[in-house]
This record gives sequence, structure tokens and C-alpha cells, in this order.
Amino acid sequence: MEITIARSYEEMSAISAGIIAREIKRKHDLVLGLATGDTPVGTYKELVKIFKEEGLDFSKVTTFNLDEYVGLPPLHKNSYNYFMWENLFKHINITPSKVFVPQGNTEDPEEFCAWYEAQIKKAGGIDLQILGIGGDGHIAFNEPGSSFASPTRVKALFEQTIVDNSRFFDKKEDVPRFAITMGVGTILEAKKILMIVNGKRKADVVAQFIEGPVTSQITASALQLHRHVNVVLDAEAASRLKRTEYYNWVRDNKHLVQKEVGR
Ligand code: GLP
Repeated sequence: MEITIARSYEEMSAISAGIIAREIKRKHDLVLGLATGDTPVGTYKELVKIFKEEGLDFSKVTTFNLDEYVGLPPLHKNSYNYFMWENLFKHINITPSKVFVPQGNTEDPEEFCAWYEAQIKKAGGIDLQILGIGGDGHIAFNEPGSSFASPTRVKALFEQTIVDNSRFFDKKEDVPRFAITMGVGTILEAKKILMIVNGKRKADVVAQFIEGPVTSQITASALQLHRHVNVVLDAEAASRLKRTEYYNWVRDNKHLVQKEVGR
């Protein structure tokens, strides 16, 4: 895992958008996995800025969103589909037929989940998956106890997640109890992963998933098993990490590898 500690939310967002833009420039038909929540809003704003100012081309990019609430139609104001169009898609030149978000109001969730997995495979797999982390350590909606081999499926939400996410709804009772979510297994199959985290509220769970044991009780800890993970944190989210000096040294001295190799 490569850990980058940014000074602020703004810097975290700019670094993350820079990583995404670099991958799109490298591969115009990138398959990009996307996340929702407050965390990536700044990153998406930065991407829109890069699109407007530098002409970053999204027309050949395919996107797959991590999750969606069961029962919410795609145009519901609390749906993740709506969130994605409001915060990113409507501001860039994405091709609508290349946008995939799980359908919350599907009549047959099981069949839908199998179809969604098949679409990811058909697209050649996810090249870069963006992730945030939930207060209970989840990635997507993989709640504590989720198998590290899990595919896209329906998951019951943990009480803490319902409370955390109730801020987006009129009242807690309106938060759906189930979601369609990519599995931990689906996420681990992505070629590269970019995890973004900000805020004091996440400091404990960040320390657990980066420096704690690999456990299905903190599903983000599964990322320790992945070959290519970038974690971009703001200083508050990083405040409970024990080895920040080491992470900062590695970040600032990458160029030394070249010197060592050349010896
Ligand atoms: C939800 C989503 C996650 C997201 C998490 C954190 O539970 N399913 O994918 O990472 O919220 O959200 P926020 O960024 O708002 O803290």
C-alpha cells in the first residue's frame, strides 16, 4: 500500500483526481470503478476542472459504480445513480451507454447482480477502482463479516451505516435496509485501487485497516492483500496512524530507487 498524507481535504482531492486523470490519459478506454459519499465529491470537482481546463476525454471511459440502495429508482434524489449524475457525469463528456450503476429497483436482484458481474468481465475488468471507507470499516456496502471472496450481491446494512448515512435522508427510517453492492472479491479483482479518506471521524478505522490485522470485521483491511493500492488521506484521517514518518519518507524519496538501481 502506498500511503499519501495530504495537508487538507482540498489537497487530498487534487492528488486523487491527478491519479485518476493520469490513468485516463494512459488508457483512453479505462474501466473506472466509482464510489459515492461525501469523500469523493472534491475529487469529482477536480476531475470536472481538469475536463474543462485541459480537455481530459471521458468519452471512451466505462464506469461501474460500487453500490446502490435496494428499492430506490435511478432518479430518486437519494439514489447513488442521481448522486453520480449530479456530481460528475452531467459535467463531463461521459458516454451514457458506458455508465453502469447497480439498479436499486430491479425486480430480480439476484439475476441483476450476476448480470452486473458479467458486464464488468465483458468490459475487461476494472482498471482503477475508487473507494471510500464507512465508519464501520466497510468498502462499498461490504459490512462486517463479508467474505473476502464475495461477488456483487444484496447486503443488509449495519446499524452504524444506517445512522451514518441518515444525514442524506429526511429521517433515519427512510434509509433503505438493503443495498446491491460489489463484493470484496469483485473489488480485489480491480487492477489498481485508489482509497480516499478524510476527517477525524475516520481516524480510528483508518488505523485499523492500514496497520491492524486483516479481518472481515473491517472489510477495508482486505486491501492489504491487493498488489496495487494507493491510499490518499487528509491529515485528520491519518492522525491515529503509527508509522506516518515512514509513509512520508517513502513518498518523498521515491526518486532514490532510481539511484539505488543505478549503483
Ligand atoms: C457509503 C458507501 C461507501 C462510502 C461510505 C463513506 O456507505 N456505500 O462506498 O465509502 O458511504 O461515505 P462518506 O464518504 O460520506 O463518509
